[in-house]
Amino acid sequence: MIDFSGKRGLVLGVGNQRSIAWAIVEQLHELGAELGLTYLTEPKGRFEANVRKLGDKVGASIIQECDVGNDDSIKQLIKTTEKEWGELDFLVHSLAFADYDDLNRPYSETSRIGFMKAHEISTFSLLPLSNGVAPMMCKRGGGSILSISFIGAVLAVPNYNVMGSAKAALEASTRYLARELGPENIRANNISAGAIRTLSSSGIKNFSEMLRVAGEHSAMLRTVTQAEVGKTAAFLLSDVSSGITGQTVYVDCGYSIMAN
Ligand SMILES: NC(=O)c1ccc[n+]([C@@H]2O[C@H](COP(=O)([O-])OP(=O)(O)OC[C@H]3O[C@@H](n4cnc5c(N)ncnc54)[C@H](O)[C@@H]3O)[C@@H](O)[C@H]2O)c1
Repeated sequence: MIDFSGKRGLVLGVGNQRSIAWAIVEQLHELGAELGLTYLTEPKGRFEANVRKLGDKVGASIIQECDVGNDDSIKQLIKTTEKEWGELDFLVHSLAFADYDDLNRPYSETSRIGFMKAHEISTFSLLPLSNGVAPMMCKRGGGSILSISFIGAVLAVPNYNVMGSAKAALEASTRYLARELGPENIRANNISAGAIRTLSSSGIKNFSEMLRVAGEHSAMLRTVTQAEVGKTAAFLLSDVSSGITGQTVYVDCGYSIMAN
């Protein structure tokens, strides 16, 4: 039922092969989407190399640097997309950042700058990106915006700290974007993914314990895979979910519904 033939979209957040965004890209490509990918430049250039490798594999028509902490970088991405495509159908925001020290100290000791940085990169960035792509989605008669959240948005998860408040704000922002853009037939949703071992999650203290608990205490007695998040992403980005907006959909093997 899900067919992305003739559909175009941007995916931000591929870092390496373990990235949730990587699996989302593979899934969307399999379903026929035309893709634009971005990478964050870091000293060793590994993200760029990984994104270019994935881009080659899926025939990405846009591959561009985008640091969402920089307004000009976001503007440049929107400009390139307008020039190359003019119109687009979806946007995937699968990225987050918190300084390691801030993540790993008691929540009340989070630094002012660390709090702002985590919320700026992980949450605020969705606003200018949505604002930039909305006119191009309007030309298509609508579109779908997707971000990736975590249960730490609504429950106090050990060691998730400043990312918890950033994810809570991400989910709230999604509802406000859904309200703002709904009249244009542009939808905005979140996937709340279960714990998965990735580069980002390795920065959370005792993440192995979080994974163990998620596996043992989920309804399905296992943790979720990147590919499973990718499949739900395709659903939420496609017309098959045309009546769903402003929602957070849990893809966590039923961890969130258990009263342990
Ligand atoms: N892994 C998990 O257990 C889990 C669970 C729920 C939600 N999530 C969320 O999924 C999303 C993807 O994370 P992941 O687990 O795939 O890890 P990941 O490390 O593979 O991806 C995070 C991405 O964020 C990007 N990023 C960081 N700062 C950036 C900036 N300034 N500009 C542009 N990009 C930037 C990195 O380049 C990286 O590609 C994040 O929002 C994360 O919070 C992860």
